[in-house]
Amino acid sequence: MLSPVITIDGPTASGKGTVAHRVAQALGWGVLDSGALYRLTALSVLQQAIDPEDIPAVARAGQQLEVSFHPKGVMLFGHEVSELIRQEHVGNLASRLAPNPALRQALLERQRAFRQPPGLVADGRDMGTIVFKDASLKIFLVADAQARAERRCKQLIEKGISANLDDLVADMRERDARDIERAVAPLLPASDAHVVDSSQLTVEQTVQNVLDLWSRVLPTPPAQA
Ligand code: C5P
Repeated sequence: MLSPVITIDGPTASGKGTVAHRVAQALGWGVLDSGALYRLTALSVLQQAIDPEDIPAVARAGQQLEVSFHPKGVMLFGHEVSELIRQEHVGNLASRLAPNPALRQALLERQRAFRQPPGLVADGRDMGTIVFKDASLKIFLVADAQARAERRCKQLIEKGISANLDDLVADMRERDARDIERAVAPLLPASDAHVVDSSQLTVEQTVQNVLDLWSRVLPTPPAQA
């Protein structure tokens, strides 16, 4: 039998990554940050000077990624790239490459291979609609653009990277529009997803919300004789 999956989809900086990691930790499950695969492809495209408009070449870059995820970071072709892939220009290029159907296809099996016992929490844009359509629980995590930009701004400043709130809000709206309007795997809640708005919630409250929903999905143990 396939291991259970909880999917957490949503727009940029809605807190999906943090919530996914905490939920996975609470359940003792693995985690898939699917956005990292798109970011790693973007980095590889930049490093190999591939034309982002060259559909087959970009898909090949996605297929040929030599990646390993460790508790402390991500390695690409043997180099630690955790910080590099978090840079805004890499995220932006990832979102420009993401509509490429051949790239999405190339990354599909790689993402599904993360489904291992005892379970997986997968975060991204199309986890519940495409990659793990049969997930036991699907969350669509939203937050208003201002709240998301403020969070992202705080994160960047904590890392010593200068950030401008207005630029971040504009960038976020642009990226959301691209993810929502694309023809392939657009950012949409699955019809059976639970929409959770985290604008006014702390991370702990959001995580608890997801764990409460999961406890309602769990099969009831058979009654004792
Ligand atoms: O989630 P994150 O911001 O790291 O993702 C970077 C970009 O990769 C997103 O803006 C989105 O365009 C793309 N992406 C996607 N499908 C996913 C995850 C990310 O299209 N499952």
